[in-house]
Amino acid sequence: MSVTVRVPAKVNVQLAVGAARPDGFHDLANVFLAVGLYDEVTVTPSPEGLRITCAGTDAGQVPLDRTNLAARAALALAERYGRSPDVHIHIAKDIPVAGGMAGGSADGAGALVACDALWGTNASRDELLDICAELGSDVPFSLVGGAALGTGRGEKLQELVVGGTFRWVFAMAHRGLSTPAVFREFDRLGEGTDIPEPVASEELLDALAKGDADALAAAVSNDLQPPALSLFPELAGTLATGRAAGALAALVSGSGPTTAFLVRDEEAAAGVADALRASGACRAVRVAAGPVPGAVVLGRVS
Ligand code: C5P
Repeated sequence: MSVTVRVPAKVNVQLAVGAARPDGFHDLANVFLAVGLYDEVTVTPSPEGLRITCAGTDAGQVPLDRTNLAARAALALAERYGRSPDVHIHIAKDIPVAGGMAGGSADGAGALVACDALWGTNASRDELLDICAELGSDVPFSLVGGAALGTGRGEKLQELVVGGTFRWVFAMAHRGLSTPAVFREFDRLGEGTDIPEPVASEELLDALAKGDADALAAAVSNDLQPPALSLFPELAGTLATGRAAGALAALVSGSGPTTAFLVRDEEAAAGVADALRASGACRAVRVAAGPVPGAVVLGRVS
């Protein structure tokens, strides 16, 4: 018996970051949009105990030990239900690693849903979301998908209504960026300044609800963009290339270094993608639309 779950990547259309909290995390107003780039996580019983394999884009950079969020998800579910976590987790990877698109979080949510189905634990959605929040700030959103406002450290979700489909071009950079390093750089750049409480933008929520790409383009923002650019200055050139090629908006995705370009239609997407490829500044360019659903069981094989 094996179970396969498909989980999407995300882009943050708004990422407002507050001051560092005593626990080191930052309060956020984080508007997530799930987009159609996917990892697939397959779990199969494994008599020799928990093990992970990974294939696909960036597979060589994925940790195959118990630090992998997919392994931690299986261990957390097994512990709650008093089971042995004897499972082989295979990740077919298409979401960039260390890219600011929640690829690791997607694998955590995917493994959790897959093990729940494989083991027949039938955990409630709230229980699954609790485990996701323990695993990481972005993991609950990977489970839920669609569009949502994340508050707290990003794990408290309020699902959002979206009135249309938004098209994006994503440029994957030649190297990764570490999320904690980008938050530390945010703290360093903000030293001695008054950092406001993060709040969701009404204009942005309205643009999502109406499915209005121009209004969304005018409202997108990412407080992690200045620290990401400070650590990875070449990204400014990539953003400029996409803008010059006709993107409605260009921003760093989450903590980066993937850059995200909102475009009006398929034709505009092709133009922006061609310009980014020709620039040589990125390792890969992908076109994807959102919102799309969160973790979905694709199939069970007996
Ligand atoms: O929650 P997660 O493990 O994904 O967070 C990774 C790192 O990003 C944290 O260790 C922390 O340094 C930073 N972070 C933060 N504030 C948040 C979310 C993440 O400072 N709200």
